[in-house]
Amino acid sequence: MVKICCIGAGYVGGPTMAVIALNCPSIEVAVVDISVSRISAWNGDQLPIYEPGLDEVVKQCRGKNLFFSTDVEKHVSEADIIFVSVNTPTKTQGLGAGKAADLTYWESAARMIADVSKSNKIVVEKSTVPVKTAEAIERILRHNSKGIKYQILSNPEFLAEGTAIQDLFNPDRVLIGGRETPEGLKAIQALKDVYAHWVPEDRIITTNLWSAELSKLAANAFLAQRISSVNAMSALCEATGADVSQVSHAVGKDSRIGPKFLNASVGFGGSCFQKDILNLVYVCECNGLLEVATYWKQVIKVNDYQKNRFVNRIVSSMFNTVSGKKIAILGFAFKKDTGDTRETPAIDVCKGLLSDKARLSIYDPQVTEDQIQRDLTMNKFDWDHPIHLQPASPTSVKQVTVVWDAYAATKDAHALCVLTEWDEFKTLDYRRIFDNMQKPAFVFDGRNIMNVEMLREIGFIVYSIGKPLDPWLKNMPAVA
Ligand code: UDX
Ligand code: UDX
Ligand code: ADP
Repeated sequence: MVKICCIGAGYVGGPTMAVIALNCPSIEVAVVDISVSRISAWNGDQLPIYEPGLDEVVKQCRGKNLFFSTDVEKHVSEADIIFVSVNTPTKTQGLGAGKAADLTYWESAARMIADVSKSNKIVVEKSTVPVKTAEAIERILRHNSKGIKYQILSNPEFLAEGTAIQDLFNPDRVLIGGRETPEGLKAIQALKDVYAHWVPEDRIITTNLWSAELSKLAANAFLAQRISSVNAMSALCEATGADVSQVSHAVGKDSRIGPKFLNASVGFGGSCFQKDILNLVYVCECNGLLEVATYWKQVIKVNDYQKNRFVNRIVSSMFNTVSGKKIAILGFAFKKDTGDTRETPAIDVCKGLLSDKARLSIYDPQVTEDQIQRDLTMNKFDWDHPIHLQPASPTSVKQVTVVWDAYAATKDAHALCVLTEWDEFKTLDYRRIFDNMQKPAFVFDGRNIMNVEMLREIGFIVYSIGKPLDPWLKNMPAVA
């Protein structure tokens, strides 16, 4: 029986291994993590991450051929194939701070593999890492090999949160990069055999190691670039009276462009886009490709601009001050159908409003108060350390309350802001909400999910990203 071990039971490792276990009954899959609380949650009724369909998959194979454990060394030493899916934070200090990936957790995982291994291993990079990381890992393993042979593969994961299970069952492609030596090709084939249990062969792409590593950074950079492109257009739409949804629709009909990933928003979030682009920028700079680095940096700059623009729009619409005013925040996760808040635009928008002394009442169906308070008190880039999984620190932001209902959040508020596109926000009783708010009552839709006409009929003053402006907003001072 082939044994697989995955180091890191996070958003990538957990769902990916569960789907492998379900599709490959003949393979034993162990997911290990240093976080005791995370592993207990994977073994309990309330899984540590919210992902539609995940519960069913885990329940079907947990205890049969899928195991979650903190006994990292035992499972690593027994495995034939080891996936590494640990944190790769952005460095906050030293060389490359604010850009380069901090490979501390990767390196310690590699050293541990070398320490405990007693048989040959295939080591698979699963978490996104800078191009050429495989080479560094290979060196650590080879220099500590004690006669054991290691093959390194890069097998980046392309799942998106909220649709992870669907993406894993039916991937656009599976990408496997490896050495082009006989041993390397054999290792590629071994991993291909795992995916071939359910993925059609023509969707399994094999490349050299560096192409696989770079493809992952490039795919995320291209996706993020589309969002920054449409968000840049949204600012121009507001200035000219065009409607960004109409522009996206017309542009997306061009089969060379395609309709997906063209929704204007308050900005992209998530653990990957910004981190991977920063990584790409750093790799370009290290290779002396400054123009290329500048090109990609601009994708992040436009994203920051979009978040700032949203805050400025709120403040300027509300007579240039939100001091002491209650503002309801609907949605805090970085997108719908996940409880994940990593790099969510809600953090920057909330911090912006708090710096203007607003009082915030926040509601998200999947994010806890602890998490929101932690996010609003944490420094940039600190979220991606395993310590982040520990209980929240006692510090909290006093101007923030977290409630479990959109009606409580909006009661007596001067404005409501939609920051995550949760479906339930589309069907709230907005007449009731309007009646319980201060007047004039404002809606700021950062996700373009609201029925603007209907809200204006009720009496709201409505701002929706990239849509023709309400006459009220047109007469307010220009927004930077
Ligand atoms: C992304 C990639 O899609 C996935 O392939 C990769 O493996 C990891 O990174 P994820 O971050 O989970 O996945 O979610 P995604 O759906 O890509 O959304 C990222 C952000 O972009 C979210 O904040 C989302 O709201 C925003 N977004 C997405 C837009 O603002 N507009 C869009 O049209 C699409
Ligand atoms: C373009 C638009 O495609 C068309 O829709 C619009 O109406 C007019 O402008 P055109 O300039 O005729 O059409 O040719 P196009 O095929 O878009 O190529 C433009 C340039 O891009 C060419 O120099 C082409 O060689 C180059 N190109 C195109 C690339 O370098 N790489 C590509 O992948 C595609
Ligand atoms: P991703 O979104 O890439 O899956 P997460 O942060 O959700 O990232 O998961 C990474 C996991 O890796 C965390 O649960 C963390 O505790 C775990 N981890 C980090 N370093 C190690 C290590 N050396 N051994 C085992 N687990 C680790």
